[in-house]
Amino acid sequence: SSTKLKPLKSPIPEGELSVIEKSKQLAAWTAVDEHVLPEYRVIGIGSGSTVPYVVERIVNQGAEANRDRVFIPTGFQSKELIVSSGLSLGDVDQYPTIDVTLDGADEVDTQLNCIKGGGACHLREKVLAEAATTFILVADYRKNVEYLGTNFKAGVPIEVVPFAYAKVLQNLHQVLDSPKATLRMAVAKAGPVVSDNGNFIIDAPFDVERMKEPYTIMAQIKMLTGVVEVGLFCHMARAAYFGNQDGSITVKW
Ligand code: 5RP
Repeated sequence: SSTKLKPLKSPIPEGELSVIEKSKQLAAWTAVDEHVLPEYRVIGIGSGSTVPYVVERIVNQGAEANRDRVFIPTGFQSKELIVSSGLSLGDVDQYPTIDVTLDGADEVDTQLNCIKGGGACHLREKVLAEAATTFILVADYRKNVEYLGTNFKAGVPIEVVPFAYAKVLQNLHQVLDSPKATLRMAVAKAGPVVSDNGNFIIDAPFDVERMKEPYTIMAQIKMLTGVVEVGLFCHMARAAYFGNQDGSITVKW
């Protein structure tokens, strides 16, 4: 299901942020208001450029609200964000059950399946999504699609152990019919992107027709030896919040 909420007044003064940034902020602020409940003590914090607005809103709930809370990061970026915001850092080792995890997404379909891993964090993101009683997505309007792969053409992010990357690439090309699957390279092609877990990332595009069955693609990729995790999150999210260009919010649930 999907619903459109009434336009909200942006918390950011006109002209200070782009429309896209404002829509990320509106999505994040609304999701925090609805899902980070006063009684929650363990909160998962995802990765990407939308998540800082999640943390911003949580900080705005005040020191008292956050005094007894612990925040679990999905990677280096969110760890830095938690620490620099003065929030208490925890680890999923200590807190394998999380009240709510909020995270961004590269694209979300009508069934709340999503592509994640644009920032190479999807292994830890999936762990925190699974550990959470409630998993919530926040994104700008560009990520709200009927079928995965509509706007996000980079492909499904796949974390692989470095030893196996060439074999997995070959499997993707020859067995799973993703001829454009490539190893993700760092800026200026200085070398492969290395995840927080010391692994490489492959991006494997599939046409939209095949992405209508994301669970099947996910399962096929996961079967390849050397694959650590696939950036397809199927039926995991409770709801997704999208900020729109006109200042309204679309919620899918
Ligand atoms: C990182 C992710 C991000 O959540 C995803 O790429 C969305 O990022 P952004 O909020 O910058 O659009 O999955 O691995």
